[in-house]
Amino acid sequence: MQWPSITSKVKKDPALEAKIDELLAQLTLEEKVGQMIQPEIRHLTPQDIKDYHIGSVLNGGGSVPNGNRYSKAADWLAIADAYYQASMDTSDGKVAIPIMWGTDAVHGVGNIVGATLFPHNIALGAARNPELIKEIGRITATEIAVTGLDWDFSPTVAVARDDRWGRTYESYSEHPDLVREYAGMMVEGLQGEAHDSGFLSKYRVISTAKHFIADGGTHNGIDRGNCLDDEETLCRIHAAGYYSAIEAGVQSVMASFNSWHGEHMHGHRYLLTDVLKNQMGFDGLVVGDWNGHGFVAGATVLNCPQAINAGLDIFMVPDPDWKQLFNNTVEQARTGVIPMARVDDAVRRILRVKLRANLWEKGLPSTRPLAGKDELLGAREHRIVARQAVRESIVLLKNKNNILPLSAKANILVAGDGADNISKQTGGWSVNWQGTGNTMADFPGATTLWAGIQDAVASAGGKVTLSVDGSYSEKPDVAIVIFGEDPYAEMQGDIQHQLLKAGDTSDLDLLKKLKSQGIPVVALFVTGRPMWVNRELNASDAFAVIWQPGTEGAGIADVIFKNADDQINYPVKGRLAFSWPKSPDQGTLNIGDENYDPLFAYGFGLNYGDTDTLGDDLSEEGIVFESSSAILELFNRRPMGAYGIILEGKNNDRANLNGNIASVSTLTVTCVDRDVQEDARRAVWNGQGEGLVAISTLNRQVLSDYYESDSSLVFDIKVDAAPVDKAWVRIGCGPSCYSQVDITRELTSIAGAGWKTLTVDLKCYPDAGTDFGLKRTPQELFALILEPFTLVANNKLDVTFAQVRIEKGLAQGASVRLN
Ligand code: BGC
Ligand code: BGC
Repeated sequence: MQWPSITSKVKKDPALEAKIDELLAQLTLEEKVGQMIQPEIRHLTPQDIKDYHIGSVLNGGGSVPNGNRYSKAADWLAIADAYYQASMDTSDGKVAIPIMWGTDAVHGVGNIVGATLFPHNIALGAARNPELIKEIGRITATEIAVTGLDWDFSPTVAVARDDRWGRTYESYSEHPDLVREYAGMMVEGLQGEAHDSGFLSKYRVISTAKHFIADGGTHNGIDRGNCLDDEETLCRIHAAGYYSAIEAGVQSVMASFNSWHGEHMHGHRYLLTDVLKNQMGFDGLVVGDWNGHGFVAGATVLNCPQAINAGLDIFMVPDPDWKQLFNNTVEQARTGVIPMARVDDAVRRILRVKLRANLWEKGLPSTRPLAGKDELLGAREHRIVARQAVRESIVLLKNKNNILPLSAKANILVAGDGADNISKQTGGWSVNWQGTGNTMADFPGATTLWAGIQDAVASAGGKVTLSVDGSYSEKPDVAIVIFGEDPYAEMQGDIQHQLLKAGDTSDLDLLKKLKSQGIPVVALFVTGRPMWVNRELNASDAFAVIWQPGTEGAGIADVIFKNADDQINYPVKGRLAFSWPKSPDQGTLNIGDENYDPLFAYGFGLNYGDTDTLGDDLSEEGIVFESSSAILELFNRRPMGAYGIILEGKNNDRANLNGNIASVSTLTVTCVDRDVQEDARRAVWNGQGEGLVAISTLNRQVLSDYYESDSSLVFDIKVDAAPVDKAWVRIGCGPSCYSQVDITRELTSIAGAGWKTLTVDLKCYPDAGTDFGLKRTPQELFALILEPFTLVANNKLDVTFAQVRIEKGLAQGASVRLN
C-alpha cells in the first residue's frame, strides 16, 4: 500500500547536511553508538557521558534532580550544565556534540513543582481551538527552557479508539481530523514556526509526535497491547497526527510500546523505515520508548540489534545496566549484525536534529535567556491561558430548566471528593508519574475547583460552603457536586468497562441524597474519558464534564456562574471530541461506526439557553453479568477456551508455548505427561533472575463473580526442586498490573513429595500497584483479568502443574492449603 508523502516545512539544508558529513567523518564507532543511547538521569553521570559519548538523556515521570521534587530551576540547570559540559569536552580528543535532554511535558511541565498545568489533551480536544493549542505549546516550551532542557516528548497524537485505554486522556480525539488539526499546531507551539528565525531558538524545544503507531488502537484498549487494524486504518486513522506534525517540522517521533498484528513496533522495519521514513518522508529521529525495544521478539533490553535494524535511531534505556546495551550495540555494528550504513543513518538523523535545534549555539544551559527564571514557572500570563483552556473545554451534557449558569449570589453547597482535590483535578503526569497522592504543597500557585468557586461566590456576595459529604446545617439553594475518576497514567489506567470506581456508588448516593432533599444538583464530572454515567445524569439537574482541568480550577467558576449583572459570564463552549456511551460496554464506540449508538454523539455539547430534552429516566441498567459456572477450568490437559500459555523472562522477553517447548531468559516450559500424553506443563527456572509462566488471554475476563463467591484457585502441582529463593502465584491484568501471593513455603514443603493439590483462596490476593502510587483493590483486578494463573519465581525452581481451575465456595477465609 502507498502512504502519503508529507512535505515538511523544514527543508533539507545543503549546508547543514555538509556539516553532518563533516562531523560523521570524525566520529569513531563508539562515539556514534553513544549518540544512539539515551539513559535516564538516575543512571547517568557526566563521566559516563565522556566515557560513552552519550547523545541524549531523559528524566522519566516523577524523576527529578537529586530525587528532590521541590528542585528549583537552578537544580535542573546544574545537572543540565554538567551534562552539557561533559558532552562538549574535547580534552580526550573526541568531537564535541551537545547532549540533549528530553522530558515529558505532556500538559505543561508536569515534573516541575510550580509549573502551569493545562487540562489534559482530551479536554483540549473539546475546546476545538487550534490557536489555543499552539499557545499552550509555546508556554510549555518557555517553562521547559527555564530548566535548560531541550526536548519535549509531546504531543501524544494517539487517536484513542477504545476508551478503556488508560491513556485516552492523552488523546485529543477519537476523530483523526481533530488530531490532525491539533498535532501540527502543538509542534509549532513547542518548536516555533519552521519558516521564521524563531524556529528552535533558545525559547523553544524539540517536539516529539508519539507513539508511532496505533497506540490508541490496541485490541481491548490494553496499554502496550496489540493493534489488529488493517493498514488502511493505520493510514487513515492512527497516522493522522503524524501528517500535520511532520508538515509542521516535528523533529522526533517516538516508537510505540504496542504491536501491530503481533509484531512489536520497536522492531517494525516496515512501519518505522519503509512507511515513516521512506514513504512519509520523515527525516528527523526515531526515539524508542522506556525500555520498549526489549519487547521485540528475540531481543532483551540490553541486547537489541533488531530495533536499530528496523529503524530505531535512539534507544531509550532507563535500565541501570545500559552500558551493556552500548557494548552489545558497538559489537553488533563491528561484526555487521547492524550494518554500518544503518548506524550512520541513525547518527546522521540525530545530528540533523541537533543542528536544526541549534544546540551548539544555544550553549551552556544556564546561559540561555530563559534559564533560571523561576518566575516564569507558573507565571500569571501562563496561568491565564490555562484558565482559558479550562473554560473552553467544559462540555455541558444536561441543563434542566436552564439551571446553569448559577447566580453567584445564592447560598451554595459544594460537595464531592473532587471539589478541593488538586491531585484529582490534575490527573496523571502531574508532579509524579501516575499523579496520585499529591497535595497543594506540590502545586504552589494552583487553584482548586473549590477555591475558584469560593472566590467567585464570595466576591458576588453569595454564600458558599464546602462539605465533601454533602451535609449542611442550613439548606442551600443549590448543590454543586464534583466527583469522578481518580488520577492514573499508562497501564494503571486501563479498565474493562466504563464504570466509575467499579461498584463503589458513593458519588451516586451523594447526588441522590441531595436531590431527595429537594436541592437542585449541578454535577461536575472530573474524568479522563467518557464513562457510563446514566444514573448520575438522572440524579442531577445539570451535568457538565470538566475533564482533568489541571492547576487552574477557577476556569470552571468562570463559566458556571453568571456575572454581576446576572448575565452569562463566559459561554459554555466545549464539544465532545469523543462519543459518549449509553452503556458501560461501549468502549469502542466511535463516530463513523456502523450502527453508531451513543448517548451523546461526537460533537455534542449544550449551549446556555438550549432546550434540554434529556429527562431523568435514562436506562439505569448497567451491565448484567451472566452468572458464572461453579468451576472455571483454565487448564485441563491443555489451556482452555481462549487461554494460552506464555512465558516472560527478566528483560521483557516473552514467548508463547505453541509447540511442546518454549524458553525465555530465565525459564523453560515443556509439555510433559502425567496421566495421559502431555496433560501437564513443567516449568524450570534457571536461577538467572525473575521469570514467569502464565495462563493468559488477550480478552479481559471479568471474574468478579468468582471473587465475590468465596472461590479458590486450585491446581495440582509437583515440585522437583524447591524454590531457591521465592515463588508466588499471581493474577495479572496487563503490564505492571498484578497481585500475588507468596507460596514459597508451600512449594518448599512438598519438594520431592509427588503430586499435591494447592488451593489459594481468592481473598488472599492483596491490593496491587502500591509501587506505582496507584492502589488497585482485588475487586478491581478481578474485573480486568488477563492472566488468572501465573507462577513466578526469582531464582531456581522446578515444578510441574496440571488441572488449574477456579472453584466457587471452597474458600476458608483467606488461606493457602495443600492436600
Ligand atoms: C511513556 C512515554 C514517555 C516515556 C518517558 C513511557 O513509559 O509511554 O509516553 O515519554 O515513558 O517517560
Ligand atoms: C514511565 C516513566 C516512569 C516509570 C516509572 C515508565 O513507564 O514512562 O516516566 O518514571 O515508568 O517506573
